[in-house]
This record gives sequence, structure tokens and C-alpha cells, in this order.
Amino acid sequence: MGKLAVNGGEKLRTRAFPSWPMHDQREKEALNEVLESGKWWYGEKVKQFEEAFAAYQDAKYGITTTNGTAALEIALIAAGVGAGDEVIVPPYTFVATATAVLKANAIPVFVDIQPDTFNIDPQRIKEAITEKTKAIVPVHFAGLPADMDEITAIARQHNLAVIEDAAHAWGSRWRDRGVGAIGELGGFSFQMSKNITAGEGGIILTNSEELADTCRSYSNCGRGKDKPWYEHYLLGGNYRMTEFQAAILLAQLTRLDEQVTRRQENARKLDQALSDFPGIEPLKNSPQVSRRSYHLYCFRYLPEQLRGVSRDRFIQALNAEGIPCSGGYPHPLYKNPLFQRKGYGPQFCPLSCPYYGKTVDYAQTHCPVAEKICEQAVWLTHNLLLGTQEDMNDIIRAIEKIVDNIDELQ
Ligand SMILES: Cc1ncc(COP(=O)(O)O)c(C=O)c1O
Repeated sequence: MGKLAVNGGEKLRTRAFPSWPMHDQREKEALNEVLESGKWWYGEKVKQFEEAFAAYQDAKYGITTTNGTAALEIALIAAGVGAGDEVIVPPYTFVATATAVLKANAIPVFVDIQPDTFNIDPQRIKEAITEKTKAIVPVHFAGLPADMDEITAIARQHNLAVIEDAAHAWGSRWRDRGVGAIGELGGFSFQMSKNITAGEGGIILTNSEELADTCRSYSNCGRGKDKPWYEHYLLGGNYRMTEFQAAILLAQLTRLDEQVTRRQENARKLDQALSDFPGIEPLKNSPQVSRRSYHLYCFRYLPEQLRGVSRDRFIQALNAEGIPCSGGYPHPLYKNPLFQRKGYGPQFCPLSCPYYGKTVDYAQTHCPVAEKICEQAVWLTHNLLLGTQEDMNDIIRAIEKIVDNIDELQ
């Protein structure tokens, strides 16, 4: 029998970490208030949440949606993305970042990420711009802001829209400015795994009144501002949030500051301790990142520094010690059958759209950094970072135990 729990040794930790989602009397009262009011539909609570969240992220306007996917789709269409356009996206993200582009009838162009932030690499963006490029969608992955100085400068130079996928970045700040409306538009998600949640939900942020009105119209059946109810101006849909969702989100927002602070403090402790181990590399914090939501705590696992033991074997061992973690995305987005086979829609539009005038073949797409990160990344979910100092010590001790006994895993 070995020392490691995965080999029958004693498990380092048996207690559970804080669970997610969290709620208390605040959510119960807020929900009950809506229930009793009889006003369940797209009213005061939605308006209150839109204003509160937009202000929280330093944006002028907030337009809630059914989810983060819809927020991105609407933002792209409102930004003028359409048939024949190319939109630059990272491949290391949730599928919605790229499918939102397809839903806007445009072509996702995958641009590689940086190994030390997991965010889109601005240098690679420059190389990918063509006469068809219309927009860039940086993802603030895990809540770490992408390099918005470089990205907005490139966009300005080439007259491109920037639509931030801020689905993980509630409370994140770049140069002490909330993310989400640093570009023209940004989308957030409130799905259940997210750091503030109503089970599902999303919001679009912008500083432009015109874009806000367009997003509102798309999200509300194409209606016009201050226009008759049964008059429709745009090909919109029903992407409205309910009063119940908004009420829960208002309650969740009251906890967010304190939780971001705690996650940051705990992440700092992990960063300091884990950087001392061979083969464990936490993500980089650039000085422009003034606040980081830590939807995930990520590090790179480098097998070449740990006797060639695979990342998946390391994760198995860490799980066995009582520390939940995963390897995240198994492959970059373009490796999915959706992109490899271009297999959707009766005419395979928009990938074979005549407006585009070029052919797309994602079998030829290769983003070496993203592919490597899919083999190296280790993800710990944000609820772990809501634990105590002792909980963080357990994470550190478990990794130390595995590193010290790495030979057992060979
Ligand atoms: C990076 C990213 N973008 C967009 C989305 C879509 O959000 P939703 O699930 O609310 O539709 C997600 C959801 O996980 C995400 O992780």
C-alpha cells in the first residue's frame, strides 16, 4: 500500500468544501416578495437588477436576457455582425463564445491563447485580421481579464467591434474599470455554476444608448422603445428575464463583494504556495488586473517536471486526497464535430454561405497553445476559494503530498 490515497493510503481530507449555489433568508424573502406581489414578469426587479449590475461593472446600460448564450448572440447582432463577416474568438472557452458567432450568421476564426493567462493572445489577433473581420470576442477566462489595452488598440486601428465574453467575470476589473463594457458590448452568465446565479440568466452591458436600445429590442420581440406594444421593428425573440430571477440576483449581488475579496485572498495564498512546487504553475496576474472574480482557480501541470506522470493521473490522485478538481476542456472548440464536420443547418450555413466567398476548414485550424493547455490545465471551482485558511492549507498539503510521492504514480 502506498502513501497516496489513490494507492490505498490515508485520505488527506474528508470534509466537504463550501457548496454552491449559496442562499439564505435574503433569497427567500426576495422570492416571496415577487410571489406575493403577483408581478412575476419583466418589471421593477429586472430594471433594478439591470441598473445595479451595470453600475457594479461601471457600465451605463444593462439589458438582461434568458442566459449568457443569448446575451452574446444579441450583442453580436446589435454590433452589426452578419453574413459574410469573420469574428475572432479564442478556442479555449465554452462553446457559446463561437456558436454565438454562427448564430449571427458569421464565421468564427479561432486565435490561440497565451499559456500563462489562458486568454486570447493579442499578437495572434493581429495576424488573423482580414478584410472580412468585423469583431473580436475576448473571453475573460475564469474571470481573469484579457489584455484589454492591446485588444481595444488593435480594434480601434482596424475599425473592429469588441464584444467581451465576460460570462465568468462578475466583479473583475482591468485598470480599475469593470469589465463588460470596456469594448462596445459584453455578455455575462448567471447559470447555476456561476459566481452569482439565478439558475439561468444573462445580461448585456454597454455604454452606448443606441446599442442598448437595439439589444433591448432584440431581447424583447423586436419591439421599439416607447412604441405601441404590437409593433415590431427587428427580428428579435423572447429573451426576457423573469422577476424571480432578478430578485434572486439582487440578493446574490449583496454577497458578491465579500466573496470576491475572499476568493482573491485565498487564491493569493494558493499562488504563493503552489509556485514553490516543481511542475505546478498558477496563472499570471498582470499589474493591469485590479480585481479578479476567480470563477475557477487554474494552474498548469507540467509532467516533464514531475517524472512524466500524466496530468490526468495527478488529478485522479488529488481527487482521491479529497480535493475536487478537473482538467477542464478536453480539446479546443474547433475540434468539436460541430466545427470539424460543419454539420448543422439544412444548407450548412453560414459556413458555406455564398456571402462569405471563402471556404472554411476547421480540420486545418491549429492553435498549439490551446491544445497544450487542454492537456496541462487543472481547474478548481470557485466555491473551494470560499473556504477557510485551513481549507486552503489542505489543498496545498494534498498537492505537496502528491509531489513528494510522485514516484507512486508512475
Ligand atoms: C465563457 C462562457 N461564455 C458563455 C457562456 C454561456 O452562458 P450560459 O450558460 O448562461 O448560456 C458560458 C457558460 O458557461 C461560458 O462559460
